[in-house]
Amino acid sequence: MKDLESTPPSKLLIYGASGFTGNLIVHEAARRGLDFEIAGRNEDKLAALAAELNVAYHVFSVGDIDGWKKSLTGKTALLNIAGPFSETADQAMDACIKFKVHYFDITAEVDIYRLAESKDVAAKAAGIMLISGAGLFTTYDPLVVHTAKRVKNPIAMRAAFKYSGGFTPGSVASSANIIAAGILVRKNGELKKLDESPSTAFDLGSGPEDFSLMPLGAVVLSFKSTGIPDIEEYFKMALPAGRAEEGQSKPERNAERSKLLVEVTGEDGTIVRSMADMPDGYMPTATSAVEIVSRALNGSYKIGFQSPGSAYGAELITSLPDVRVTDF
Ligand SMILES: NC(=O)c1ccc[n+]([C@@H]2O[C@H](COP(=O)([O-])OP(=O)(O)OC[C@H]3O[C@@H](n4cnc5c(N)ncnc54)[C@H](OP(=O)(O)O)[C@@H]3O)[C@@H](O)[C@H]2O)c1
Repeated sequence: MKDLESTPPSKLLIYGASGFTGNLIVHEAARRGLDFEIAGRNEDKLAALAAELNVAYHVFSVGDIDGWKKSLTGKTALLNIAGPFSETADQAMDACIKFKVHYFDITAEVDIYRLAESKDVAAKAAGIMLISGAGLFTTYDPLVVHTAKRVKNPIAMRAAFKYSGGFTPGSVASSANIIAAGILVRKNGELKKLDESPSTAFDLGSGPEDFSLMPLGAVVLSFKSTGIPDIEEYFKMALPAGRAEEGQSKPERNAERSKLLVEVTGEDGTIVRSMADMPDGYMPTATSAVEIVSRALNGSYKIGFQSPGSAYGAELITSLPDVRVTDF
């Protein structure tokens, strides 16, 4: 292990660094020249990764407050990639509040967004920003902000996400939490649980396709960024679920790109649609997470519970590599 005493303070701590997505993120952070250290619970995996990247590492469980204290000292931000986040986010958020460090994670678990929302007052008192959902929502939420600006007084939003790629074990475990949270929509400004998940057809460029209603998180995060009172989200897999590694390591497979359609209705009945398409698999999460974290490291942040769009606006999406936005 590196001698932390002789290492100058770094700005970013990446917890859960040795998982599949963690690996993508630390290499992207290194490529971007971020000043970071890594952490997690598995000493062997972290030591190997730290040696490869020539960074310091910290081994501790999420419940170890001394571990957080040592590893967060001298840091500006934490990026938590250890999922399922039902097991890690509460402790990591509280540590960030206690040690006054901005918090980011890449969860897709809607209950974790609500958890972050519930810590708004504490985060503000600590002078830190809490962003849960710095993965997909770094694209999704600014796209909603962008689309909402195209109408006067937006009153309703529907989104359809067609994901192209597989799932890691961490994502499979998180999916169980997403399903357990129930079929949530936002209606008249309030979260509402539906008894069943109706399917609806959307055209993302290859004709109408059926999508299932599923709360991906805009019901919390895009309500935060836009205040749109009625929000419904739909999901579809472009490929059969499998191990993400298989999809990631075979670019010759030439998989379809992931696509996200956002449809906003204005008070006068005008309907506008914007669509983002991005590379398949987990790489967009890595580039997005590093982009948004680098903003906080550079001193750009808003205190309290934030979504990517509420903190950085529609412009954020234009800084993401290989993400194309079309308005129609
Ligand atoms: N929304 C998005 O854009 C997006 C995209 C990709 C991934 N994700 C989410 O990110 C999470 C991680 O995904 P992944 O692909 O990296 O999965 P993974 O390859 O299965 O890795 C999971 C990582 O989390 C760590 N971990 C799990 N539970 C932990 C706990 N209780 N305490 C400490 N560390 C723990 C694991 O540590 P060990 O090695 O010690 O087990 C491992 O480093 C998942 O929840 C996934 O859904 C979200």
